[in-house]
Amino acid sequence: MLEADLLLEHAAELATPVGPAPRTGKSLGSLRIIPDAAVAVAGESLIFVGPTRDAQAKVRLRGGGLRLDVSGKTLLPGFVDPHTHLPFAGSRAAEFRMRLEGRTYEEIAAAGGGILSTVQATRAAAVPDLAAGALGRLDRMLEWGTTTCEAKSGYGLSLEAELKQLRVLEEVSRCHPVEIVPTFLGAHTVPVERRSQREDYVREVVEEMIPRVSEERLAEFCDVFCERGAFTLAESEKILEAGKRFGLKPRLHADQLSSGGGAELAARIGAASADHLEFVSEAGIERMAAAGVTAVLIPGAGFFLMSPHRPPARRLVEGGVSVALATDFNPGTCPTEAMPPILVLACLTLSLGIEEAITAATLNAAHSLGRSAVIGSLEEGKQADIQVLDIPDHTHLVYRFGVNHVETIVKKGALAYHRPASRMRRSP
Ligand code: NIG
Ligand code: FE
Repeated sequence: MLEADLLLEHAAELATPVGPAPRTGKSLGSLRIIPDAAVAVAGESLIFVGPTRDAQAKVRLRGGGLRLDVSGKTLLPGFVDPHTHLPFAGSRAAEFRMRLEGRTYEEIAAAGGGILSTVQATRAAAVPDLAAGALGRLDRMLEWGTTTCEAKSGYGLSLEAELKQLRVLEEVSRCHPVEIVPTFLGAHTVPVERRSQREDYVREVVEEMIPRVSEERLAEFCDVFCERGAFTLAESEKILEAGKRFGLKPRLHADQLSSGGGAELAARIGAASADHLEFVSEAGIERMAAAGVTAVLIPGAGFFLMSPHRPPARRLVEGGVSVALATDFNPGTCPTEAMPPILVLACLTLSLGIEEAITAATLNAAHSLGRSAVIGSLEEGKQADIQVLDIPDHTHLVYRFGVNHVETIVKKGALAYHRPASRMRRSP
């Protein structure tokens, strides 16, 4: 008999991708679906995933263990959000209103707003305030089903202010169940005071920031916003190669607002991911597939920027590229922490299937963070990161859009969130 600390049984459905990761082509859309399902957890790990009747034969609850009847609910792996800009101060609501009146994101940025306005607010913020903001956002992620997120600096743009953001991430990750994968994004844009000496800013990123971030073990990845108005291909390559020398794995914002060869660069340097890709070229798609670079698609940002341009999601899938989905949570282009609306947009605006979107938001996202052996699917031996959703099957996650279906979240085998009782009454 297997000895469990936690047993969830009689789920109406369990839906999960299964490894090996990443899932590409047709396998992106194939989920393992188990009706009347159970999962058993010992410590932080899943020890059983299967039909409830098999669990009854194979699993025994330890003394003091917890048995939950989840009949009528659907079990899914926790979402893995592989692209967020979590630690920042201030709001860009006023810019949002300007955009509603017809100004573009790039016009606002060129006039000193955009990323630079968040940089100003973030530099001025005290550490406890930045930490409090990040914790509130992590709470909302968890409430919407995210159990692991990548999180970038990039609103400091000076050695001290970048270190401040990364240290805040380190601190909040110690006291919050959502697991954080930190990324250094000192090359988000050239800060306003360095605009006349941009080569010197790139030099500082390469020679001072990257070594220090690496020495203090504050990040796992190095990212660059490779875009007109931000960093050129040559600058991006220089920065990402420097990151590699210091043990920071590359990922990048590529081909978001214009076609700039970002995807090709990602393939050339062996990046873990190229993100956005609204303007990816055909050659970029082929090289990403050959090099195993994950395409992190971000339908929330295109939607929120009212852009008519969409990444060629179907072409990426059919071209054999590993596709993942992210919020890109940030104050300018996608101010939501919630993954379910991103899945809805992926299905309705990028033509992903529901099962494809679920794999992209779990196992493939985990793969892009180098963690697909541990998280991203409900498989025996993996970490127990589980969503219990108050829906009869996984189709309802996308069909019943705009509603939070999360009832319970298990993170590393522990109950991390339970919806307040007053909201648990079922409405007809
Ligand atoms: O991913 N593109 C660059 N960075 C963010 C936007 C950040 C901001 O506007 O503050 C993005 O869309
Ligand atoms: Fe981003």
